[in-house]
Amino acid sequence: MCGIVGYIGTGAVQNILLNGLKNLEYRGYDSAGLALNDNAGIKVYKASGKLNNLVDLLSHKNNTANTFKGIGHIRWATHGKPTVENAHPHLSNDEKIVLVHNGIIENYQELKDKLQAKGYTFHSKTDTETAVLLIEDEYKQTKNLEQAVINAVKQLKGAFAFCIMHQDEPDKIIAVRNHAPLILGQGHSGNFIASDIPALIGQASQSIYLDDRELAIVTQNNITIKTFEGAVKIKPMTLIDMKAESISRRGYPHFMLKEIMEQPDIMRNLLSSSLSAKDAPITFSGLDADKLFSHVTKLEIIACGTSLNAARVAKALFERLCRLPVEVTAASEYIYKTNLTDENTLCIGISQSGETADTITAVRQAKEAGAKVLVLTNRANSSIIRYADASLPLMAGIEISVAATKSYTAQLMVLYLLAVMLAEKSNKITPAYAETIKNTLLTLPALTEQVLDLSEQAKALAAKYKNATDFIYMARGINLATAAEGALKLKEISYINAVDYAAGELKHGPIALLDENMPVLAVLPKDSVVFSKVLSNCEEAKARRAPLIALTTESAVLPENIFDDIIRLPDAPELVTPMLCAPFLQLFAYETACALGREVDQPRNLAKSVTVE
Ligand code: G6P
Repeated sequence: MCGIVGYIGTGAVQNILLNGLKNLEYRGYDSAGLALNDNAGIKVYKASGKLNNLVDLLSHKNNTANTFKGIGHIRWATHGKPTVENAHPHLSNDEKIVLVHNGIIENYQELKDKLQAKGYTFHSKTDTETAVLLIEDEYKQTKNLEQAVINAVKQLKGAFAFCIMHQDEPDKIIAVRNHAPLILGQGHSGNFIASDIPALIGQASQSIYLDDRELAIVTQNNITIKTFEGAVKIKPMTLIDMKAESISRRGYPHFMLKEIMEQPDIMRNLLSSSLSAKDAPITFSGLDADKLFSHVTKLEIIACGTSLNAARVAKALFERLCRLPVEVTAASEYIYKTNLTDENTLCIGISQSGETADTITAVRQAKEAGAKVLVLTNRANSSIIRYADASLPLMAGIEISVAATKSYTAQLMVLYLLAVMLAEKSNKITPAYAETIKNTLLTLPALTEQVLDLSEQAKALAAKYKNATDFIYMARGINLATAAEGALKLKEISYINAVDYAAGELKHGPIALLDENMPVLAVLPKDSVVFSKVLSNCEEAKARRAPLIALTTESAVLPENIFDDIIRLPDAPELVTPMLCAPFLQLFAYETACALGREVDQPRNLAKSVTVE
């Protein structure tokens, strides 16, 4: 969801900004733009489409000499089509102020009307242009960029992170944060601003995270942070410990494949930090579980997208193992729900990025309603942490591919460990059963490696079904979430309309869709209480001539001549099969997208970090 960068210093400004944007491309790729300030003034360059288009445009210009600062943007379009006019940076009418924005200005129409009445002209359909023109209007009174920015941002409602430059104040860039992430970096050649740490890798050695309602006046040698009320804030710098290697493909053709393949090691790391042996207690470093879970009578899990599917698995786990009622809510729906959250509720917010606006808003509301909040996130310094009583890291390393893979199984692993720990602590499972599950969890990295060895089968399946326009994924029980996640992966990166159904529901309507052009993938691991029921649903589908794929396990006995394709995963207890099915379905989606020539890591219309509601 839009990425912004800024740099002031003695380095190669254009290259630094373009590299920063390259590392933020996961946030959007509808258009890109730079504003560069050299001795002659500010120049703006914009291109629609991917960052490469901007790179091509700039390759015909000669901007490297004398440029001492600049700001840049990559866009995930919200207001206005992904055209050059709507691309950032946006200029003031006098063309002296230039601004890039991540977020949404909710009261832009009202402000726009006022500015138009004052004679300002808008050149784009964006909400962002309102901000730059408002600053221009304030500058006319204050003749001071910092004060003009403070006066303007106080009038804005919504989420915004800005980088702002003024031609007449060449020594500074102003950075602003309110409900959209923004980080300041310090390096040997100057100072940096970015939406996320990857943009700073290799350039800045230290960083500071801005908080909401703060702005920074960034010069080549100094960073001064103030609140919107003007009070100076002193914040310590922290070392940037992310390595360049963590944002490289390491020889894989796509980040997605690299991230799929990393899953066994991530599981190992999570296990080794929480569970040393099958008969050892489960612990999470820094988590006072007794305090967090005391008086908890229900769980509320809030998430979006892939994280929401992890939440669905968690519901089955916590209900089954801990005997606790669990409600799972898509974060974007949380505000519309009759709020039964109270001080006996533990709200678990799950977010890979920790920046998803819907999830942050919902978690904040749960906290306001009295709930304790536990957050699972892959980004330790992300915004969601601010609303958490406790947080658990996913330890998956940075995930670049827009389609989430390794973060999903990392979320599942943490949720399994958490559920077993809570079940044990509350005596809801016997010590013997706890030991059995823990033993199974410890085998998962090796079993996942066996699943990943099936990539040739995933490829063959993809070659066979790549021309399907629709796909049905069906399952029952705990693997309903698996069907949802498998279908989501296929939709996201291949654009095949994959829909997940509870297998038993097929006969209540969706079966009308079935014919020889509607492949059905059934999730039916053997050790499943629902195995025979899903099998009956498969028979029903076959009777309607649907091509049928079984995602099953090694020792499952399947009737002859029903299935067109059978994928056998290693045998495992039903409880953990979501962990093993997911990597295969990720591979299938990946291979299908590759076979169709899709942009695997950057699927159309999507962004990895959705910082608007
Ligand atoms: C976006 C991404 C999805 C992701 C969802 C939630 O929609 O495209 O892949 O699952 O956000 O992201 P989060 O960072 O909160 O887990």
